[in-house]
Amino acid sequence: MISLFGDIYRKKKVLVTGNTGFKGSWLSAWLLKLGADVYGLSNGIPTEPSHFAATNLKDRITYVEKDICFLEDVEKVIKDIMPDFVFHLAAQSLVRVSYSDPALTINTNVIGTMNMLEALRKVNNPCHAVMITSDKCYDNVEWIWGYRETDALGGKDPYSASKGAAELVIKTYANSFFGKEESNIKVTSVRAGNVIGGGDWAKDRIVPDCMRAWSEGKPVVVRNHNATRPWQHVLEPLSGYLRVGQKLFEDPVLNGEPFNFGPPADQNYSVGELIAQMQQLWQDSKVDVKKHPDKNEKEATLLKLCCDKALHILGWKANLNFQETVKFTVDWYKTYYEQKDDVFNMTCDQIEGYVRMAQDRNLVWVNGND
Ligand SMILES: NC(=O)c1ccc[n+]([C@@H]2O[C@H](COP(=O)([O-])OP(=O)(O)OC[C@H]3O[C@@H](n4cnc5c(N)ncnc54)[C@H](O)[C@@H]3O)[C@@H](O)[C@H]2O)c1
Repeated sequence: MISLFGDIYRKKKVLVTGNTGFKGSWLSAWLLKLGADVYGLSNGIPTEPSHFAATNLKDRITYVEKDICFLEDVEKVIKDIMPDFVFHLAAQSLVRVSYSDPALTINTNVIGTMNMLEALRKVNNPCHAVMITSDKCYDNVEWIWGYRETDALGGKDPYSASKGAAELVIKTYANSFFGKEESNIKVTSVRAGNVIGGGDWAKDRIVPDCMRAWSEGKPVVVRNHNATRPWQHVLEPLSGYLRVGQKLFEDPVLNGEPFNFGPPADQNYSVGELIAQMQQLWQDSKVDVKKHPDKNEKEATLLKLCCDKALHILGWKANLNFQETVKFTVDWYKTYYEQKDDVFNMTCDQIEGYVRMAQDRNLVWVNGND
């Protein structure tokens, strides 16, 4: 039996911010499987239904409901828990909301990130923190090459700008405070792109839009049919985040290092192709293509990540191909809507299936042969 991620999460106190959200709830489930003592910090449950509620994570972890925009609250949470690891995912995560509420977005994503780092700095209890930003943190100059960790940060829309700004905040804390000998904190930032998987019910994301509509026998309304995205399953970046946490723990030299996590360069499919792939697995699914309702809300075109650094330093590369990614996703929703299985078990089964496939493919991060 292989111990995943060097078994470093077993019996450790791991705080996941944004634990009620899509990625945070999957990460909490995976950490539970790894034997961690999981704590969550969020300001409520963002959707109804939600993966967090469906998997009954409330009763499986210690969940604190607070707003990360308030430093004193964040400090108290860190002091009370004294976490060994932090995965910071709490954010206003939607580009469209960032146009309607830029202040909320910048407050949550920039000041909220600073509050997490500031609380860790003040408490200075030994802790390794993985700060989740986004592929949108890069200055998207719409070129054909994948962005590297050394490329310029930027962001034309408020969401992207908030993620670029969060990166700068993380960098200054890593350099100015956590790099010093007296600091017990080590931090990295991680940048991933469009994630899909079961249990996402966020608004204006293509998979939840399809699943909501098709589960009610309605056609899905699609805005950017031709937009191409580097889709990846939620477990892909999460395996990268867990691997980064392990490596940061083993080698503090990684303090301040950013990492990209994305699919292989040729795994770019359009929204239309994604829908067509999902339709093969979901009968009676109809699509209604509409023009984007607000031309001012420009969505960036292709944004690819170069993941050579993750491969070289972490031995990480993506596991699933496009067809497998879509199958994992649709299978989860089908089982959920048909109420065929206990949802937590289903999530755990998918995590196990994902790990088994990575082992069969002899991926370095899963076999620990580095
Ligand atoms: N889902 C994607 O495709 C994607 C892509 C790139 C980056 N990301 C980033 O990954 C992270 C997780 O994304 P997600 O899709 O799970 O998001 P989500 O919207 O599903 O969840 C967001 C979480 O943050 C919490 N939150 C929001 N504002 C808060 C506040 N003020 N105080 C405390 N908690 C707050 C919510 O309660 C929720 O738990 C985010 O940082 C997001 O920007 C997501």
